[in-house]
Amino acid sequence: MNVILCGGSGTRLWPVSRALMPKQFVKLFGERSLFQLTVSRNAALCDRQCIVSNAEQYFLAVDQLHELDQTSGSYVLEPVGRNTAPAIALACLALAADELVLVTPSDHLVKDQRHYQQVLDKGQELARNGYLVTFGVQPTYAETGFGYIESGEGFTVKAFHEKPDLATAEEYLEKGSYYWNSGIFLFKAGVFLDELRSHSPKIHDACVKAFKNGIHGEIMRIRHEDMLDIPDDSIDCAVLEKSDRVRMVSAAMGWSDVGNFAALHDELPKDEHGNTLNDCHISVGSRNNFIYGRERKIATIDVENLIIVDTGDALLVSRKSSSQKVSQIVDRLRAQG
Ligand code: GDD
Ligand code: MG
Repeated sequence: MNVILCGGSGTRLWPVSRALMPKQFVKLFGERSLFQLTVSRNAALCDRQCIVSNAEQYFLAVDQLHELDQTSGSYVLEPVGRNTAPAIALACLALAADELVLVTPSDHLVKDQRHYQQVLDKGQELARNGYLVTFGVQPTYAETGFGYIESGEGFTVKAFHEKPDLATAEEYLEKGSYYWNSGIFLFKAGVFLDELRSHSPKIHDACVKAFKNGIHGEIMRIRHEDMLDIPDDSIDCAVLEKSDRVRMVSAAMGWSDVGNFAALHDELPKDEHGNTLNDCHISVGSRNNFIYGRERKIATIDVENLIIVDTGDALLVSRKSSSQKVSQIVDRLRAQG
């Protein structure tokens, strides 16, 4: 079973990514959204898919599946998000204890399908033996927005560190035995639920209750009041940091979480001066800029390493090196109401 998580909001890609049209559903790469790319990538490897998303995004997901000519698949719909630990638990509760579950985010790129398949094959062996398998990506810079897996001998993991500060991330980068957590997991449904029960019993018990009270079927709906009772936590903090059953497969699979405009700039086609290709953009002497616009002309003169995003109702201008801070704008907007 492939559980696809789609409840995130992708705040570092504002104003392209919005509450009602989050990053995973935006067609950033030509005709396909990251969600659609995820569905296609994994449909080739798993017999069944379960989409866990916010109830508000159900129709977006269905429409995008139709575009892929895919009509099968089950859903778990959350009235409000409670982060990844509950989302995964609610999907696992519907499965047999020894069913293998591949959990995938819906908003990442994996460019090397052949290697992806190979690392999943390796992971399957470990998952069958009762481990929680993570897939580690060799870091190329000190990213503070990822979890780090401190690897040990073989596939063992010494520790898991979710989102370090910059100084710590720099240390990890230097040491060489630390990997980025790709956010892809493989385990038996029952093993995950057992570990959740041991390390975060409140989340486990609240999810069991919400699951029992839910409206069951191909589309599983969780009741609002039950969802509110579930503590908000990520799989990383609720389980991975605490469990000794975590293992890691090193995965050179062309992975990017395209979590901010600088990362997106790296992945998109560019002109000979390093600017993203865009019909709206007129450049005189500008280099290495991320330009996104649909209608209005965007003219730049002798500027470098900027992010300029024009969605008609909002305009973002930032240094490329500050692209992590876009979520601070979203925080301000939310505070303004
Ligand atoms: N259904 C559901 N409900 N999905 C959710 C929820 C929720 O409440 N919250 C997040 N998701 C989905 C997101 O849409 C995304 O596909 C995935 O779960 C991961 O959530 P993010 O919110 O994007 O997590 P993150 O980027 O902060 O951190 C995670 O991913 C990093 C790699 O991209 C962690 O696993 C890090 O350790 C990891 O390095
Ligand atoms: Mg993310």
